Amino acid sequence: MQEILDELEARRAAARAGGGERRVAAQHAKGKLTARERIELLLDEGSFEEFDMFVTHRCTDFGMEADRPAGDGVVTGWGTVNGRLVYVFSQDFTVMGGSVSETHAGKICKIMDMAMQNGAPVIGINDSGGARIQEGVASLAAYGEIFQRNIMASGVVPQISLIMGPCAGGAVYSPAMTDFIFMVKDSSYMFVTGPDVVKTVTNEVVSAEELGGAATHTRRSGVADGAFANDVEALSEIRRLIDFLPASNRERPPVRPFFDDPGRIEPSLDTLVPDNPNQPYDMKELITKIADEGDFFEIQRDFARNIVTGFIRLEGATVGVVANQPMVLAGCLDIDASRKAARFVRFCDAFGIPILTLVDVPGFLPGTAQEYDGIIKHGAKLLFAYGEATVPKVTVLTRKTYGGAYVVMASKHLRGDFNYAWPTAEVAVMGAKGAVEILYRAELGDPARIAQRTKDYEDRFANPFVAAERGFIDEVIMPHSTRRRVTRAFASLRTKHQEMPWKKHDNIPL
Ligand code: HXC
Repeated sequence: MQEILDELEARRAAARAGGGERRVAAQHAKGKLTARERIELLLDEGSFEEFDMFVTHRCTDFGMEADRPAGDGVVTGWGTVNGRLVYVFSQDFTVMGGSVSETHAGKICKIMDMAMQNGAPVIGINDSGGARIQEGVASLAAYGEIFQRNIMASGVVPQISLIMGPCAGGAVYSPAMTDFIFMVKDSSYMFVTGPDVVKTVTNEVVSAEELGGAATHTRRSGVADGAFANDVEALSEIRRLIDFLPASNRERPPVRPFFDDPGRIEPSLDTLVPDNPNQPYDMKELITKIADEGDFFEIQRDFARNIVTGFIRLEGATVGVVANQPMVLAGCLDIDASRKAARFVRFCDAFGIPILTLVDVPGFLPGTAQEYDGIIKHGAKLLFAYGEATVPKVTVLTRKTYGGAYVVMASKHLRGDFNYAWPTAEVAVMGAKGAVEILYRAELGDPARIAQRTKDYEDRFANPFVAAERGFIDEVIMPHSTRRRVTRAFASLRTKHQEMPWKKHDNIPL
């Protein structure tokens, strides 16, 4: 009997050794942790239960039958994050470069199926040279199996991708279909075709980092939702994110103990909006002052910074926040901001997370660049996302909200449940200057008359009351009581139920 037990231990030890000391040392030398070290940091201590430790590949080409490492380059299983169930796979770059064989993919698919069945998030730690070259088309088919499961799981369980090494070619499309992608600075990259192919085809010379590193995808392309300094920080931030998310679309978002008075008054908010309408202020200050304990998990912090998205808690329960940021592009909506916010709104709606929208928006960004790149279709994404969302929606207008952007930003007309305005809010078709220039073009040569016309327009429209008279604003509230009002509004909406007409699915303007 002891011999049998010893053999099990020996097999386990061999599997845990991955690609061996030399390759583990090489992994560490790149500043990267191993697949198992990453899982240990991600999950609660001692909670990891592994599946398929002894799975090996079945390839017999290129002498592969002589090299059949246990586990086949990916560690899979389940465990807990602060006591809540999650499924995880972690590709082991020390074993054949973490490349994806038929059996490697089969292990990933198995935990994805379990996650779907049991209603728990899937966290994928990607560190792989892509399709196992020796397996050819079998490897491509295996990727296809993962892709199909990504699609089936979308909107059912949260899917989170951590890119902690190479992720190239068609392999990028699995993370791309998950809900969130996080990268590690200087040690991860994602691209469809690498620098060598780019050079051959387009003659561009570009490094892997420039083409698909964390800075590129968090600032320029918007492919990634965040980047962290190293593996340790990335894994601990994912734990923080998991704490905000429901385990599946069958569950309500988690409610945690809170130590912040829901009725907390914030006198400083009464002076947040500057007297000068052209002067910016930091909308994040309002977000953190509304949030329980000021805790805000921002999504896509460095991309389309004219709109802010992320998670807070109110009375311990998760709320998604979308807020125009007057500090960047005056808070205008543009293509990137619309795409960013639309995707966030749809994530919240899919997982039953209520949405708080904070509005200070002068309109859509004008210009040929925006029009040629399709602001019409992209802006419509956000409009569509808000309009189809059936989760509780509370909106606060802090300052200006003009034109189409007024309607888009979770207005009453898109089934906003509570639409509050600060006394400083202005709801109008456009700002006073633009309006007067159109309405009184013939008087433009008379500055005194134009000044009077502008003042008249401001007196009439530069306030929230015209909209409030029509019921488009439910209530004009004191800035200092925003946390209390918003928290009470969401509390009253806990039983909200709204149906959509039957359809196979919608046709959001992609
Ligand atoms: C099999 C692979 C592999 C792969 C790496 N290895 N990629 N084995 N299939 N795709 C092995 C190497 O042979 C090596 O084995 C070990 O992993 C580490 O690789 P190195 O090259 O030594 O590491 P490094 O210098 O860090 O370079 C990493 C790399 C490079 C940039 C990822 O390995 C690379 O370019 N690999 C090929 C990438 C690729 O073209 N993949 C196919 C993409 S197409 P030893 O035994 O020496 O340790 C694709 C399509 C998916 O993925 C389609 C889905 C539909």
